[in-house]
Amino acid sequence: MIDVLIGLQWGDEGKGKIVDYLAKEYDIIARFQGGPNAGHTLYVDGKKVVLHTIPSGIFHKHCENLIGNGVVIDPVVLSQEIDKVMPFCPDMLSRLFISHKAHLIIPTHRALDAASEAAKGADKIGSTLKGIGPAYMDKTGRNGLRVGDILAKDFMDRYNKLKNKHLQMLGENSNIVDWPQWEVSFFEAVEKLKKLPIVNGEYWINERLAAGKKVLAEGAQGSMLDIDFGTYPFVTSSNTITAGVCSGLGVAPQKIKEVIGISKAYCTRVGGGPFPTELHDETGEALRKAGNEFGATTGRPRRCGWMDLVALKYATMLSGVTQVIITKADVLDGFNPLQVAVAYNIDGAETEYFPFDICDNNDIVPVLKTFEGWSDSLGDAVTKDQLPVTFTNYCDFLQKYLGVRISYISNGPDREKLIAFN
Ligand code: GDP
Ligand code: IMO
Ligand code: MG
Repeated sequence: MIDVLIGLQWGDEGKGKIVDYLAKEYDIIARFQGGPNAGHTLYVDGKKVVLHTIPSGIFHKHCENLIGNGVVIDPVVLSQEIDKVMPFCPDMLSRLFISHKAHLIIPTHRALDAASEAAKGADKIGSTLKGIGPAYMDKTGRNGLRVGDILAKDFMDRYNKLKNKHLQMLGENSNIVDWPQWEVSFFEAVEKLKKLPIVNGEYWINERLAAGKKVLAEGAQGSMLDIDFGTYPFVTSSNTITAGVCSGLGVAPQKIKEVIGISKAYCTRVGGGPFPTELHDETGEALRKAGNEFGATTGRPRRCGWMDLVALKYATMLSGVTQVIITKADVLDGFNPLQVAVAYNIDGAETEYFPFDICDNNDIVPVLKTFEGWSDSLGDAVTKDQLPVTFTNYCDFLQKYLGVRISYISNGPDREKLIAFN
């Protein structure tokens, strides 16, 4: 049996914290897409740790962790991450498994990412510049290198072939980033990677599922950054919705049971692209401050706004979400009134459908419903009956609109700050 946990917005919903909390109920945590563009924040023994490639179950001694075939891996980032996590759990390498089919991000992928963004000028995606797009392009273009290839005798030849292809594409931009410096670290990290358990991921996971193990698939990014259904082209290069689990791990759809969707009690986005409920005023600034909304991977300030139920309902539909967890509810303390988008007004007509041309149409105005806020400190609540009634009214409305139950409310960054709701 496999459950899925995904972000329902534009990423950074608090997935890492929730996976870390739920990990006690699972035997295996598996990443199925994305790569070092992800930044999942956890608090372990009161210390903040940000994971990029390693699944968020790593801090639980009973959990095995799989980096699936759908992930793109930068060996340098992975190696740095292992060094960071090791002091917390010295046994981690016996519980970390990597699919031999996961694709590699090589140093020139970073240069291509930077060149692509530079060429777009004001229309840039706002990529994390970790080489994600170019690595997935080589995968679908059938040029990529996979983790299993590092064990091949002719790996250097294959690497040089791909690098030279990239240098040709880069032309006079070949020095846009200092990739030769990164290459030194790359080959050191590849040596380290060779010592890790590189497994046949699809057999590895299916055998464990057949043996009755419980698996949680951990999504990266968010549904509105999905390559097919997000705000294209302002998206990432993988399928971030439930569908990505099947191709990113090699599991059949009927093995999937619960789909846990994570949403903040408001909304954020980092990078370019449409964000209908974005607040450009002091309320947006106050949300950024209260929520400490700065990127876990790049440190960039996140754009902030009200919850967008048009986008959220679309995301729950795409992934078959069976329960929603609302995070960062405590951040809304003192915001009064609260607003939520329940429809879009496009050229005078109201719709609850997410529009195809959202990136081109500047006349999309959110239709906002107003809610009364609260003055209590929501972070102090431990049980549902201690939550302010104005907040539970807000949640009841969300459940009704989405047609999905809210299972938990997260009211602080720590692992235990989670309240059973419905
Ligand atoms: P992820 O990418 O979805 O794992 O999320 P990030 O780690 O990028 O961003 C979420 C941020 O919110 C992190 O700094 C978390 O520590 C923090 N966080 C998570 N849940 C809560 C919560 O319920 N309340 C507050 N105040 N912070 C939270
Ligand atoms: P987690 O897993 C938030 C955004 C980037 C950019 C776009 C494309 O921490 O939620 P890319 O690097 O993939 O080429 O960037 O996607 N983005 C994220 N935003 N959280 C993330 O991951 C993100 N990963 C990528 O900011 O707009
Ligand atoms: Mg993040």
